Amino acid sequence: MALDVGSSKIAALVAQTTAEGEVRSLGLGVSESKGLRKGQVSNLEQASFSIRRAVEEAEQQAGIPVESAILGIGGGYIAGVNSRGGLGLGNKPRDVTRDDVRRAVSAARQVRLPEGAEVLHVLPQGFWLDAQNGIRDPIGMVGHRLDVNVHLVTSPAVLAQNMVAAVNQAGVVVSDLVLEPLAAAECVLSRDERELGACMVDIGGGTTELIVYAAGAVRHTSAIAIGGDHFTNDLAVGIRTPIAESERIKREEVWSSAELGEQERSIEIPSVGDRPPRSVLAREVAEILDARAQELLNLVRREIERAGLWTAIPAGLVFVGGGARLQGLCEMAEKAFALPARVGRPRGLAGLGEEAFAPEYAVIVGLALYAGRAQQVLEERPTLSARLKGLFLA
Ligand SMILES: Nc1ncnc2c1ncn2[C@@H]1O[C@H](COP(=O)(O)OP(=O)(O)OP(=O)(O)O)[C@@H](O)[C@H]1O
Ligand SMILES: [Mg+2]
Repeated sequence: MALDVGSSKIAALVAQTTAEGEVRSLGLGVSESKGLRKGQVSNLEQASFSIRRAVEEAEQQAGIPVESAILGIGGGYIAGVNSRGGLGLGNKPRDVTRDDVRRAVSAARQVRLPEGAEVLHVLPQGFWLDAQNGIRDPIGMVGHRLDVNVHLVTSPAVLAQNMVAAVNQAGVVVSDLVLEPLAAAECVLSRDERELGACMVDIGGGTTELIVYAAGAVRHTSAIAIGGDHFTNDLAVGIRTPIAESERIKREEVWSSAELGEQERSIEIPSVGDRPPRSVLAREVAEILDARAQELLNLVRREIERAGLWTAIPAGLVFVGGGARLQGLCEMAEKAFALPARVGRPRGLAGLGEEAFAPEYAVIVGLALYAGRAQQVLEERPTLSARLKGLFLA
């Protein structure tokens, strides 16, 4: 089972690896999220209750009970840093062994972490042998010294502990933790995009998370404390309507000039309390939502620039998460950035229903594929099992 515990929805997916090595979905359960804020547990009781509901639905559909799950970790408290480390291979040049690679990676992860942080992933970017860089797999090559550049994903230990506690209380054991955008990128970005350089942007309810790939490896991960719910709030305040109504208008009414063109349109707002029904112009809705989108896009750009990667993503931006459905978002991003932009939909999981072919299911599908792949690696090379955790090459 894979579990995506988000601030808007909780998704649980039961999947199985077939004899042909295909990962197949057996059941998907989705529940409304309660007791979580910005990727953190705010009310343990409510959180575990909503997790239980999604888990039960997935189990029922699959027709099998599940004991353990791979859990997605995300939110604004995750931090990514690049680091480098390595080892000398002796006075005479010699062949690089698998053990050398492990020792180089473990040297690269020895960085001083912020108080209370733990390493979630160590993602190798490329190896150096003496002065030659950009080596993907140095095993069997010859040199004096081996170094590796890695991207370390760190998270406050308590964040993961509280999330795990909520899942445990829902009757499920957590077998592994995986960074959500890393999982989503698995099933959304093409190999070409990862090679050329692209940024995947997951716009959730409470936060937006980024992951940048270039030359086939993860270069940067970070989060922005704005999500789709901020759009809804802005609209509720701006046109003076309850949250539920502004959420409906944002999702269901046609308001974007990208869809309407020059046309003018008015949107009916039903009465609340003793107020009479009224109407707003689509243009007024667009002004409010576009302003927030522009702000978010600027912050995305600033994050990528801060990492020194703005010129490293010619393949552009891929949006996932429920917020990726915002009308006109890709058009706006293409215009603002002069880069291609698209909505990412999860691929590669067999047996998935039509309704899950949507950007908000990228994380849960990616987690299931990740778990399936980890299992295959374990079966092929059982001795590597413990150490492979975290040594994930995209
Ligand atoms: N059609 C739509 N247009 C615009 N926004 C939408 C649409 N559908 C859903 N959203 C927004 O997507 C957000 C929820 O996305 P998602 O389900 O990916 O969040 P989550 O994974 O639960 O949250 P997080 O990742 O922040 O913990 C909500 O803010 C919702 O308003
Ligand atoms: Mg999410």
